[in-house]
Amino acid sequence: MASLKDKVIVLTGASRGIGAAAARELAPDGPHLVLCARTAEACEETRQAVEALGASAECHGFEVADEGAARAFVDGVLAEHGRIDVLINNAGTGLMGSVADVKPDAYLEVLKINVMGPYNLISAVLPSMTERDEGTILNLTSARAFIPDRFYAAYCSSKAALLSMTQCLHFDLEDSNVKIFALSPGFTQTDMVNDIYANPVFRQAALTPDQGQPAERPAKVLAWLVREAPDDLAGKHNQVQFNDLTRRAGIEIV
Ligand SMILES: NC(=O)c1ccc[n+]([C@@H]2O[C@H](COP(=O)([O-])OP(=O)(O)OC[C@H]3O[C@@H](n4cnc5c(N)ncnc54)[C@H](OP(=O)(O)O)[C@@H]3O)[C@@H](O)[C@H]2O)c1
Repeated sequence: MASLKDKVIVLTGASRGIGAAAARELAPDGPHLVLCARTAEACEETRQAVEALGASAECHGFEVADEGAARAFVDGVLAEHGRIDVLINNAGTGLMGSVADVKPDAYLEVLKINVMGPYNLISAVLPSMTERDEGTILNLTSARAFIPDRFYAAYCSSKAALLSMTQCLHFDLEDSNVKIFALSPGFTQTDMVNDIYANPVFRQAALTPDQGQPAERPAKVLAWLVREAPDDLAGKHNQVQFNDLTRRAGIEIV
């Protein structure tokens, strides 16, 4: 099995939910984890947890939607560590509401975080990866890219755009050893899901947040994907609830 020992891994959305669980799954390999959220303080608990598990770590706070902030962050990490081996674009946001009710500014805000956030970081990191002809990028997408639903336009369309961008970048990279992956974690118990389901417009949903899987499950698949970076899964839509993926990742099928 490939090891991530001493790899420099940038992980956004590391303060809680799937990101915090992913950091804990990656930590025993002994990587250097660059943990990000909107504030550095929000990642402190994750930092302590991953250091206890064998990783070194540092915390950063910035707004992923802000291109200048994302670029300054990447430049700082490259200046300090000389390289970024893995970029995991996990930070994301949800918004419920009908198109009639969600005003353009609110819709744009979701696109800025869920689409431009990953794009800003990829744009800043990619030249250093292509120059070294090495690196892995992982974008957290969603099955909602394919499953439209009532009151879900902002989130579904943002994840569809992110998936499409991921697949196109895969083709851009076909002559390089830099690999890009899309991973959809599946319905998972996190703050995002709790917030979405607390919204009165979603009360008729068939599922309730407590029916979501624990964050550790997609986090295990994420860690496996980053560790192994299998060629045949690059540029594809990888969904945690696909049994062949979980089987390959060596975790239980539910
Ligand atoms: N949970 C699910 O069922 C599910 C299903 C499919 C896909 N996903 C995707 O999986 C990823 C993680 O979701 P989650 O459920 O773990 O979410 P979560 O619990 O709500 O955590 C979101 C994370 O993103 C960070 N973040 C949010 N907005 C940000 C911004 N503008 N700039 C920088 N950081 C920001 C948050 O940091 P702060 O602490 O600073 O707020 C937090 O660390 C998301 O991309 C989501 O779309 C989740």
